[in-house]
Amino acid sequence: MKKIVILTGAGVSKESGLDTFRDANGIWAKYSMEEVCTPEGFKRNPQKLHEFYNKLRNDLPNVQPNAAHIALAELEKAIEQKKIDAELIIITQNIDDLHERAGSKKLYHMHGELYKLWCRGCDAKIKWQHDCFIDTPCPHCGQQKLRPDIVWFGEMPYDMDKIQSALLSCDLFVSIGTSGVVYPAAGFVQMASSGHAKTVELNLEPSAGTTCFNESKLGPATQLVPQFVEQVLKDEI
Ligand code: APR
Repeated sequence: MKKIVILTGAGVSKESGLDTFRDANGIWAKYSMEEVCTPEGFKRNPQKLHEFYNKLRNDLPNVQPNAAHIALAELEKAIEQKKIDAELIIITQNIDDLHERAGSKKLYHMHGELYKLWCRGCDAKIKWQHDCFIDTPCPHCGQQKLRPDIVWFGEMPYDMDKIQSALLSCDLFVSIGTSGVVYPAAGFVQMASSGHAKTVELNLEPSAGTTCFNESKLGPATQLVPQFVEQVLKDEI
């Protein structure tokens, strides 16, 4: 059985209409990373940070999964239907829900999810599609201690134990639409290579870690990912 691990980043959602972080007109060109993506920023000005995530959350229903998300979901479906003998895990750094809406199920959101809140009072994780403010009460305990369930800089990404063991035992690791500058995800290629995996990058431009990959294909995700899935289904990769 071929074990496939796929890492996705903001580039996979770009053609759906969502901004990446580090491209010329990306999110970090418009907002301060320290203000909206650190625990210190939240302590200093929680309202500003809630407004930032409220806006991102409100933008989500206006965008749809693109051909790259759909091709990855189709690959998972083909595996479920035993059309190929493989196992697939998708790890995404993205906080949008486009992989789920395309139909992907085996998915780790290592940087959290826009549609979840985390109560720092009772520790509940809450599915949430509305605006959140500093005085929004937790639906479980009533305390006004909700924060977006997003992993900020300096915090530990989710599911790292499961991700690490998947990377060490996979046969094929594919990185899609990520600049490869944010750790730990930027180090996944080395982790996969330290096992026996073939490593492939699909990106618009070479990522920071491009030389670590066995193969690098450059172009838009909506073209490269469906082609890659075709190859996997034909056992050509
Ligand atoms: N198809 C494929 N790749 C694309 C496309 C596209 N249509 N458009 C852009 N890209 C590539 C860019 O060339 C870039 O290498 O996607 C990458 C996006 O990089 P970043 O903006 O840095 O996004 P990402 O790598 O996901 O960021 C990682 O940084 O700020 C944090 O927490 C945030 O999860 C995020 C993390």
